[in-house]
Amino acid sequence: MKLLVIGSGAREHALCRSLSLDPAVTALHCAPGNAGIAEVAELHRVDALDGKAVAALATELDADLVVVGPEAPLVAGVADAVREAGIPAFGPSKEAAQLEGSKAFAKEVMAAAGVPTARSYVCTTPDEVEVALDAFGAPYVVKDDGLAAGKGVVVTADLEQARAHANACDRVVIEEFLDGPEVSLFAITDGETVVPLQPAQDFKRALDGDEGPNTGGMGAYSPLPWAEADLVEEVMNTVLQPTVDELRRRGTPFSGLLYAGLAITSRGVRVIEFNARFGDPETQVVLARLKTPLAGVLMGAAQGTLADFPDLRWSEDAAVTVVIASHNYPATPRTGDPIEGLDEVAAQDAPHAYVLHAGTRREGGAIVSAGGRVLSVTASGTDLARARERAYAAVDRIRLDGSHHRTDIAAKAAAGS
Ligand code: AMP
Ligand code: GLY
Repeated sequence: MKLLVIGSGAREHALCRSLSLDPAVTALHCAPGNAGIAEVAELHRVDALDGKAVAALATELDADLVVVGPEAPLVAGVADAVREAGIPAFGPSKEAAQLEGSKAFAKEVMAAAGVPTARSYVCTTPDEVEVALDAFGAPYVVKDDGLAAGKGVVVTADLEQARAHANACDRVVIEEFLDGPEVSLFAITDGETVVPLQPAQDFKRALDGDEGPNTGGMGAYSPLPWAEADLVEEVMNTVLQPTVDELRRRGTPFSGLLYAGLAITSRGVRVIEFNARFGDPETQVVLARLKTPLAGVLMGAAQGTLADFPDLRWSEDAAVTVVIASHNYPATPRTGDPIEGLDEVAAQDAPHAYVLHAGTRREGGAIVSAGGRVLSVTASGTDLARARERAYAAVDRIRLDGSHHRTDIAAKAAAGS
């Protein structure tokens, strides 16, 4: 099977790494990729938002399957353009990707499907904003309706700040605050059959102790020793299958990866958000534990044959990933700094720990930072404590001037609290 993966983050590096280990994969291409992905896939230049260009590249490469990683190309209809060129694509249509592209649309689908989520108002005027803020009270949850790379959400006790964010957005969703731990559960679907992956937890805030601003994600772990044994089954029955069924009923079936961001509240599971693609950094830990070769499952989703697919097989091991971010991330990050120590991790920590690249590029003989989240250091172990130790041992070998990372990824879960 010849594959083309679209994207350039640590998620795409994790996907490419798994695909490169799959014996069914005979050729692996990625566009645009990054310096780490170049070690496992052949890189190509393409504007990932240009469906025609992606389809042309896939045709030229004679690809059997195109995997579209990030949300922006999906919302721009890149998977549709690939399918129109006669090539199977893993990723939802432009219409179905609105589940992530518009928070208001997601709320409407959830209401129709009876999926539990926070009560909310969609507001377009300052008056509507006032009514909504007043209705729910503090802490305020204010979400830009459109795509904002994980940074469009403000959760604050400060009314002025909530009001300012709401009035800076064209259309805004204001909702009830959900208390309780967060879980990310991914499912692979062909629009009808839904195959859940293993749950993971993401760390969204920049600083230890969940302080500081929201980011795209600073680390993740899986499994969740504290979660109820029937969590996956419950989310399948109350969230994932009803949502997939509702989108099919509307004539806009969702195929690809459905990501449910959940809050486990005292009143039960609630959806915080849907995404239409693999999450980053959760994918790094989920794929680290997946034993079933990946390409066949993605192809099954693209071709509508998941009903015939055997159950996924999972490793008993735990996995932890720690994101190394550049100076000043998530505000305007500094780029172009050299990264050292990658060879030391490869020599001393592999195969249990390895580095997945996000914002990196090659500059002469060196690898330099090229984005906010730079590396995602991933490790496995018999339990979370061991995986954590290995991940942080590898993090400590990496030198990137001005960089920062959280030191408490999976710490509470590893300590059993
Ligand atoms: P989102 O982009 O919707 O995932 O929101 C980013 C983060 O904001 C989430 O991971 C939560 O930590 C937080 N958040 C979003 N919605 C709520 C809510 N209704 N109640 C509490 N926290 C929320
Ligand atoms: N981990 C958060 C996201 O991928 O949106």
